[in-house]
Amino acid sequence: MTAARVYLSPPDVGSEERDLILDAFDSNWLAPLGPHVDAFEQELAHRVGLKHAAALSSGTAALHLGLKLVGVGTGDEVVMPTLTFVATANAVRYLGADPVFVDSDPASWNVDVNLLATYLYERARRGRRPSAVVSVDLLGGCPDYDALTSVCSDLEIPLVEDAAEALGASYRGQPAGSFGACAAFSFNGNKIITTSGGGMLVSRSAELVERARHLASQAREPFAHYEHTELGYNYRLSNLLAALGRGQLMGLDRRIARRKEIYTRYSEALGSVDGIDMMPVGDGVDPNYWLTCVRLDRERLGVGREDVRLALEEMDVESRAVWKPLHLQPLYRDAERVGGAVAERVFEDALCLPSGTALSCDDQERIIATVQRLVLHGR
Ligand SMILES: Cc1ncc(COP(=O)(O)O)c(C=O)c1O
Repeated sequence: MTAARVYLSPPDVGSEERDLILDAFDSNWLAPLGPHVDAFEQELAHRVGLKHAAALSSGTAALHLGLKLVGVGTGDEVVMPTLTFVATANAVRYLGADPVFVDSDPASWNVDVNLLATYLYERARRGRRPSAVVSVDLLGGCPDYDALTSVCSDLEIPLVEDAAEALGASYRGQPAGSFGACAAFSFNGNKIITTSGGGMLVSRSAELVERARHLASQAREPFAHYEHTELGYNYRLSNLLAALGRGQLMGLDRRIARRKEIYTRYSEALGSVDGIDMMPVGDGVDPNYWLTCVRLDRERLGVGREDVRLALEEMDVESRAVWKPLHLQPLYRDAERVGGAVAERVFEDALCLPSGTALSCDDQERIIATVQRLVLHGR
């Protein structure tokens, strides 16, 4: 029998999820509202240490509404890291605003807060202030939130947190998702918990979340007939998918523990090889270990990220480069950027290895053996 393909971070579901989905099914609450939606919102908000959350159709929808609700509009500037998934910038563009991309900190690959602060103060001195900063909790880690939140509050710029990849991570003991005016989580198929597709907007502000819920329901006014005074969106999460999300959330700590085990095994086997570095963890950060990434120094190893990726692909194992910096994307060619060389090097060198909770020990050993063979013996 041939081995099944090994994916980077596939869904991992069990009987808790099945029972909850069947409960939603049997109750006939299949609409984008219902008891599982309410419970999922409360349970996720509680996990993040907040009181308010709106379950939405995607993390991108959550970012879009979050940015809109902190006041981003046409012609505005929004500052964000360049090393992130395109959705972070797309949400800005949906509002007719322009993203400004800031380079990564080599010590965490998250946004370089010193560079960002210098840019923001310089901008403020010249009388122009962006309407928002978006932080991204990259690959399950966090940026330096002490410094970032203090710059944003000093300059009175709202912070929107893109915590799509970081549910369960924390910075100095405070949960990812609780640092900004609001934060977006994603539950797409490869995230640490999934609803197959879905997202959540969380906030300290009841009013912001209530507005998000209204806008996400086509901004339908409370009349017996259909009445609309502003532009809304069809962004709500279905009760069926919220049931799946609740089951996944119950197992979050177990998932983080398993991903950490996977990271630790990769680190033991590969971290000491001259020319391989594990993805750095920022000071004070407790990651959720969503994806384990290694950095391969082509000059020292004689083989690079693409050689390893292709060797794994030959074994039917999926691995992937980290996000291509947004300032290099043709779509954002004309956007302003602040530095970028660090993110470019990370993109050139770093490879994300299979990290899903259901990864078998045998598969992980096969992956490790292939990487070792290639980097140590060149074949
Ligand atoms: C950093 C980041 N932001 C936003 C998103 C968008 O989330 P979704 O796919 O749920 O729209 C993702 C994941 O896809 C992501 O990794």
